[in-house]
Amino acid sequence: MAPPCSLNRYLLLMAQEHLEFRLPEIKSLLSLFGGQFTNSQETYGKSPFWILSIPSEDIARNLMKRTVCAKSIFELWGHGKSPEELYSSLKNYPVEKMVPFLHSDSTYKIKIHTFNKTLTQEEKVKRIDALEFLPFEGKVNLKKPQHIFSVLEDYGLDPNCIPENPHNIYFGRWIADGQRELIESYSVKKRHFIGNTSMDAGLSFIMANHGKVKENDIVFDPFVGTGGLLVASAHFGAYVYGTDIDYNTVHGLGKASRKNQKWRGPDENIRANLRQYGLEKYYLDVLVSDASKPSWRKGTYFDAIITDPPYGIRESTRRTGSQKEIPKGIEKCPESHVPVSLSYHLSDMFFDLLNFAAESLELGGRLVYWLPVYTPEYTEEMVPWHPCLKLISNCEQKLSSHTSRRLITMEKVKKFENRDQYSHLLSDQFLPYQGHNSFREKYFSGITKRIAKEEKSGQE
Ligand SMILES: C[S@@+](CC[C@H](N)C(=O)[O-])C[C@H]1O[C@@H](n2cnc3c(N)ncnc32)[C@H](O)[C@@H]1O
Repeated sequence: MAPPCSLNRYLLLMAQEHLEFRLPEIKSLLSLFGGQFTNSQETYGKSPFWILSIPSEDIARNLMKRTVCAKSIFELWGHGKSPEELYSSLKNYPVEKMVPFLHSDSTYKIKIHTFNKTLTQEEKVKRIDALEFLPFEGKVNLKKPQHIFSVLEDYGLDPNCIPENPHNIYFGRWIADGQRELIESYSVKKRHFIGNTSMDAGLSFIMANHGKVKENDIVFDPFVGTGGLLVASAHFGAYVYGTDIDYNTVHGLGKASRKNQKWRGPDENIRANLRQYGLEKYYLDVLVSDASKPSWRKGTYFDAIITDPPYGIRESTRRTGSQKEIPKGIEKCPESHVPVSLSYHLSDMFFDLLNFAAESLELGGRLVYWLPVYTPEYTEEMVPWHPCLKLISNCEQKLSSHTSRRLITMEKVKKFENRDQYSHLLSDQFLPYQGHNSFREKYFSGITKRIAKEEKSGQE
């Protein structure tokens, strides 16, 4: 019989950015590596300190090889609301778990980390001296220690109200750092090929993590643009594929998006972006194709679909049409093979996207996409649904006082059958979903009103 699985406690130090995206990221990654969240861990809120119970240090290390939302992870040896509570918790930590890291042949260093308060060097030294009762037998080595221990003090979240004493104090053995440096090394500022809507590097990695992208997966972006989301997925070892309706974008032609550059240079394309990061072997292809009319034959399966559809603000929402679809009264062009371009309502676009994902994802595969919303009218019922897809997470990123976009993650939980194609349209939930059609007008009416207000206050 397998021994009962015992959980060890770890402390995650989270980055204070994209707060809503953090829990789904950590949950998705843990489920990818065989860890699980317990209910008591649901209440993390805005704090940078999260206690996590997971079965092994290997899982902790795997988690840190992927996360961009967490800065570091520590094996938690003690925790208290006061120094006394911390020390008594440390005294209860099993010595046999400490000894391998404290024996006489080892070298170590102790660091003090504070959140929302800065300590003087003298105060830091006091904290270190107070830990004398721990059975440290190794030598201190500040430059290249074998083991690093940290005292982490939490002074709350309000910079205008910093308490004298910390709310919580933790002591742990540092295990690994997360992947925050990717935000800088993959920054779009230094990217070879960019466009007006190239996805921010940090968010691209978060999306790939929400999508549980892993080595050898096949990841598809139907609205690929300059391929920002493909770059992040390829970094995690997935083979990537994309389509875009815009010929110039796919072929890297036309006007450049950079200041001081008029036209895109030769080799400004998605393949070159992957090459820039040593990821070219993960490039499958990108095609000019309309997401409203997928050109895949039935039975094509992706492990993840990760995408940022157009909202019609900085790029148009267009789809190809036929001569027959042109409204009456508009003069028809002569028959030609060049498709007619029609406007593509956002609600139709999401309907097509969910249907396509339901049909073409592997069972257990994930769809991750951005949904633009007009916040005064947003309700959870507006989030498009499909009988084959389960909503995993829904996180808001504010864009302006009245608009935001929501990062929606869904998982395929049921095999697609033909009758699933329209079943969600029959439900009452489909009605609020139509509201997205008006996002563009509302966005611009908000801007128009704001400009008018600013002009008025400027005249006063
Ligand atoms: C928000 S951008 C994607 C940006 C991309 N994530 C990046 O990092 O560059 C949306 C893209 O969808 C494309 N698009 C618009 N309508 C489309 C359609 N019907 N089918 C496929 N692509 C479409 C636009 O040309 C645009 O490149």
